[in-house]
Amino acid sequence: MRSKVRAGIVGVGVGIPDKVLTNHDLERRIDTTDEWIVTRTGIRERRIAPPSVATSDLAAQAARHALQSAGKHAEEVDLIVVATATPDMPWPATACLVQAKIGAARAAAFDLNAVCSGFVYALWIAAQAVETGAYRCVLVIGADILSRQVNWDDRATCVLFGDGAGAVVLTPVEEPYGVLSGVMGADGTGAPLLHVPAGGTREPLSPEAIARKRHTVHMRGREVFKFAVTIMGEVSVQALEKAGISPEQVNLFIPHQANIRIIQAAAERLNLPMERVFVNVDRYGNTSAASIPIAIYEAWAQGRLKKGDVAVVVGFGAGLTWGACVLRWAY
Ligand code: ACO
Repeated sequence: MRSKVRAGIVGVGVGIPDKVLTNHDLERRIDTTDEWIVTRTGIRERRIAPPSVATSDLAAQAARHALQSAGKHAEEVDLIVVATATPDMPWPATACLVQAKIGAARAAAFDLNAVCSGFVYALWIAAQAVETGAYRCVLVIGADILSRQVNWDDRATCVLFGDGAGAVVLTPVEEPYGVLSGVMGADGTGAPLLHVPAGGTREPLSPEAIARKRHTVHMRGREVFKFAVTIMGEVSVQALEKAGISPEQVNLFIPHQANIRIIQAAAERLNLPMERVFVNVDRYGNTSAASIPIAIYEAWAQGRLKKGDVAVVVGFGAGLTWGACVLRWAY
């Protein structure tokens, strides 16, 4: 009997701006302290893209890096999905701009917006496109430049976010490797907890909207925190049950890097010691859709993801949205 074909990650890469903005730098700009930020969030520094760089630039850099790591040429790519909430422009899709930049002429391309859950959503959707045989070489990219959307006068949000991109290459792999399960969810009644009110059709950009900072991130932090703490553990358990894998079998837990306290609470829910949890929120802050693929890349580059390892990736974000996938690392 032929073994089942699954979608597996066979290459990973990142596009990370060089410029580092530390908590001490922020102390000089707003009423905050390194101590407050580290204690409440675990963040010490984040990366900021220069004005000349747009989301598609970071995404293309990550895509090229991932293709190189997979030993694939851009012409082999047949689908590009860019998870982003900060596209280069309202339309066309940033994925199309990436397609042109990397020369993936055969690829279909579209964006997916589930904000910080975007990468997990994109991974799970793309995995099914590969499993059905519809696509054979898919670039799944998470890329965001949140530094352009935060209100730099709002200390409750501007300290949290950073810029970056991460990409993976998905191809068919044989069992037991690949994406074993996925779960996605949404609760649109929670949209007002975390949103950018202006800049769309509801409240188009206007001088007044800009003066009132309506085009920047508005967040009810405590409520988002409570939601995140519960959902991260819950959705991970659901994805593990779907894959028939117990939490003890998880080699590496790779959560969305928003806040160390949220990560610790999720790990506790799964009874996972922090040695089996990947954390880089201290160095990048919350890079939105890029956070999980950057973490996957760093975990792999540090030798913490080896062929056959079981990993759980889990995210939550504006929408509200959430998602988790269980993977058996394929290379
Ligand atoms: N520096 C100093 N003081 C601050 C800062 C700051 N940067 N920010 C807020 N404070 C103050 C507040 O004004 C408040 O003061 P007050 O008590 O005098 O009113 C006090 O600190 C406590 O504020 P809280 O909001 O209660 O602090 P909390 O412990 O909840 O931490 C935080 C705030 C870190 C934002 C937390 O709520 C959180 O992480 N929430 C989740 C946010 C998140 O992950 N969002 C991203 C979602 S993903 C996506 O889709 C984009």
